[in-house]
Amino acid sequence: MCGIVGYIGYRDVFPLLINGLKRLEYRGYDSAGIAIWDGKVRVYKCRGKVSDLEKSVEGHPVSGKIGIGHTRWATHGEPNDVNAHPHSSFGGKFVLIHNGIIENYALLKERLERKGIVFKSETDSEVLVNFIEYIYQKGGVSAEMAVRLALSKVEGAYGVVILCTDEPDKLIAARKGSPLVIGVGNDEYFLASDATPIVEFTKSVIYLNDYNIAIITRNEMKIKTLGNVSLIPVIQQLDLDLGEIDKGGYDHFMLKEIFEQPRSILDTFRGRVTSDKSDLRLGGLYSIIPRLVEAKNIIIIGCGTSWHAGLVGEYLFEDLARISVEVEYASEFRYRNPIIGKDDVVIAISQSGETADTLAAVKLAREAGALVLGICNVVGSSIPRETDGGVYTHAGPEIGVASTKAFTAQVTVLAMMAILVAHKKNLISQEQYKHYITELTAIPDKICRILAQDNEFKKIAKLYKGVNNFLYLGRGYLFPVALEGALKLKEISYIHAEGYPAAEMKHGPIALIDHNMPVVVLAIQDHSYDKIVSNIQEVKARKGVVIAIVTEGDTNIRELAGHILEIPATDAIFSPLLAVIPLQLLSYHIAVMRGCNVDQPRNLAKSVTVE
Ligand code: F6R
Repeated sequence: MCGIVGYIGYRDVFPLLINGLKRLEYRGYDSAGIAIWDGKVRVYKCRGKVSDLEKSVEGHPVSGKIGIGHTRWATHGEPNDVNAHPHSSFGGKFVLIHNGIIENYALLKERLERKGIVFKSETDSEVLVNFIEYIYQKGGVSAEMAVRLALSKVEGAYGVVILCTDEPDKLIAARKGSPLVIGVGNDEYFLASDATPIVEFTKSVIYLNDYNIAIITRNEMKIKTLGNVSLIPVIQQLDLDLGEIDKGGYDHFMLKEIFEQPRSILDTFRGRVTSDKSDLRLGGLYSIIPRLVEAKNIIIIGCGTSWHAGLVGEYLFEDLARISVEVEYASEFRYRNPIIGKDDVVIAISQSGETADTLAAVKLAREAGALVLGICNVVGSSIPRETDGGVYTHAGPEIGVASTKAFTAQVTVLAMMAILVAHKKNLISQEQYKHYITELTAIPDKICRILAQDNEFKKIAKLYKGVNNFLYLGRGYLFPVALEGALKLKEISYIHAEGYPAAEMKHGPIALIDHNMPVVVLAIQDHSYDKIVSNIQEVKARKGVVIAIVTEGDTNIRELAGHILEIPATDAIFSPLLAVIPLQLLSYHIAVMRGCNVDQPRNLAKSVTVE
């Protein structure tokens, strides 16, 4: 969480920082701030969004070629002007922006206070910048050395960029646990939490590793370990276009990303399906596929929407590949002394590749000797770098805070993996294998048919935008989709919503049903169709309003449900890819009609890099 951006070079830094922060605002939007060097350090910061910061700077000419900026998701201290970054040190020598959490900040703060240092904010970040200046003054060392010494004493996570007023032609950046990308230009360098603020200037980037520090001047960059060992930087080329990170004519990123799904799913399987649709090639699994085929247990870990995709994965691997699967919240898994066998395969799912709990769970599983695979979207992010192999989802940048296309891309990868393993284990025939591959390639067109009904979703949204509760029910492959539908609605519209396996309704939630309770039922024609029809009848008998997602041409449920939304027929294993689309659009329209900020819902951030 929190977005950080920095620049040193020949360009006017103010617009560059503001535009960069706008691109990173999905990571947090409680407050924003910048520090620019123009002979002295000028710091502007305020509670609220980057646009509020921009307004607050109006009338104060700011120009300079070196600067840093921050957009905050508050952890320590409420979102206000004082707690906003950048933070200046007690003697004014250092200015810092920080993403992460300094876990031993209380102890360090107490020690610094005992030395007479007075704190202005409640943040852990101010403790770090004061600690750096304290070492700098006391030890009479260089700025770089003060930063290295301070960072070697802090516990927790950080991505930091620091400016020292005694050495103003330099930026010092370091990372542990929080992402930091350096863009390499000609006589200029860019720093950011992800590549989106950098891509319009250069495609040459360096992903800083944990415990590494970068010392950057206009025309030179050195990368070292915290122990002062020089490293050779590895420059990579970004596979990202500017067009992928703007709204492309849509009102919101979320809507754009929902409508992108035919293409993003195609990108996920593109190059992984042979041209005659008879085989799958997952390059990232090439060398470890035999271990996956032999696995007795798979443990899938993730958080939020990625955890929901993991639940679909459980159905897929058990159903097709006959491998027993557990799906775990990463945050619970890492702290409950889990049993991890050396023959187990752990699959970590994460759009951002940076979620702190998932990353920690990956490290734990590797230490226990399991084979750890990643299904991530952001190329070069931390989780793929910590795993033994994996498959990128290639969904393109997801900027709306609510995950949409990442979910369908994750499910697509899981489906490909399960089908491939089932085939290698001879559990499905060549004919069935080919059928599944062919059906997968038909999914993008089927999604286009659902998207074409957007006006129907809007009409239903209008009818129910004012209610306080929603229930979502599904069975089998569509139970995780019910959870995902409920999550989408609550996080962007602030309507309370719960998802349940449809049969569980009778064990409690049915007590909630009355004429005020819309119940979204995922009722496609699969082997549990008759059961779900009974569940619809049970809801109707209690005067609940049923919004049913049904297979095209279903006339039976049409007579029972208050509203019908149709999706094309497909194999049950692919049904989550279709059934989730109406739920995403329903949530989106309800949230817009309620006047909510769908791309930046309150209290949330896209990349949860704190526990
Ligand atoms: C919900 C949502 C979150 C994320 C979760 C995990 O719409 O976006 O629940 O799914 O924070 O994030 P990643 O996938 O980046 O690990």
